[in-house]
Amino acid sequence: MTAVEPRDLLDLAVAVAREAGALAAEGQEKVAVLDTKSSPTDVVTEMDRATEELIRSRLLAARPGDAVLGEEGGAATGSSGVRWIVDPIDGTVNYLYGRAEWAVSIAAEVAGEVVAGVVAAPARGELYTALRHGGAHRDGLPLRVAPAVPLELALVATGFGYGRPRRAQQSEVLRHVLPRVRDIRRAGAAALDLCALAAGQVDAYYERGLNPWDWSAAALVAEEAGARVGGLHGAPPNPELTIAAPPGLFEELHDLLAPTGADTDG
Ligand code: IPD
Ligand code: CA
Ligand code: CA
Ligand code: CA
Repeated sequence: MTAVEPRDLLDLAVAVAREAGALAAEGQEKVAVLDTKSSPTDVVTEMDRATEELIRSRLLAARPGDAVLGEEGGAATGSSGVRWIVDPIDGTVNYLYGRAEWAVSIAAEVAGEVVAGVVAAPARGELYTALRHGGAHRDGLPLRVAPAVPLELALVATGFGYGRPRRAQQSEVLRHVLPRVRDIRRAGAAALDLCALAAGQVDAYYERGLNPWDWSAAALVAEEAGARVGGLHGAPPNPELTIAAPPGLFEELHDLLAPTGADTDG
């Protein structure tokens, strides 16, 4: 097996994310709900599926031996040691409502570690990229998280899963968090929440119920911009709970969330 160059994976991911972003942007105006998944509000559109299909076929045309994990089920197993983790449209509800906060997210994992990530937000004209140990950039300019502030001065982004019992628990957690921070932001796209953290546009982020396609590319962007990204008690980012913030604030937010059951459905 020839050695894989993360820079080459990033270049491929950028080219594919740009093409996929253009396809999705073109389809946004006439989009409609095609199906629902875990609940009536967990929607999928034909553009989620078409965009994932384009991404999968372009990646596999360039690198036929790779594996792919995509939100809409476009999986492929591979033998190269490289796995692509794809969210074709992160922020589908925003996309459906004609809003700009949605993104194409593509991460490249080598031997189980994400080494390159791209988050393309065409309706906002933004492209976020990151290479492990190579920094994070927005449109080619380096990104840095804002310096850690005390929790009570932190602007905290979060999001909510689609299921109703989980929503009830998440509102309980929010009731606990809201009086203890500067304010809350809910943009509707987890990848863009993490990129906003990387760009210093929020101070911290937490969410329960994410999947690898939501965080893989953007967590690398946030980490390379100086954030710590993880779960509770030293765990890596995971579906139970993902927390992201600069060191210092991460621990404060972690300790606020840990006793609340933020990693449970109540
Ligand atoms: C969702 C968005 C949302 C987050 C949800 C995700 P999707 O992804 O990232 O902000 O709160 O947990 O499922 O379904 O739009 O790709
Ligand atoms: Ca979805
Ligand atoms: Ca998503
Ligand atoms: Ca999605």
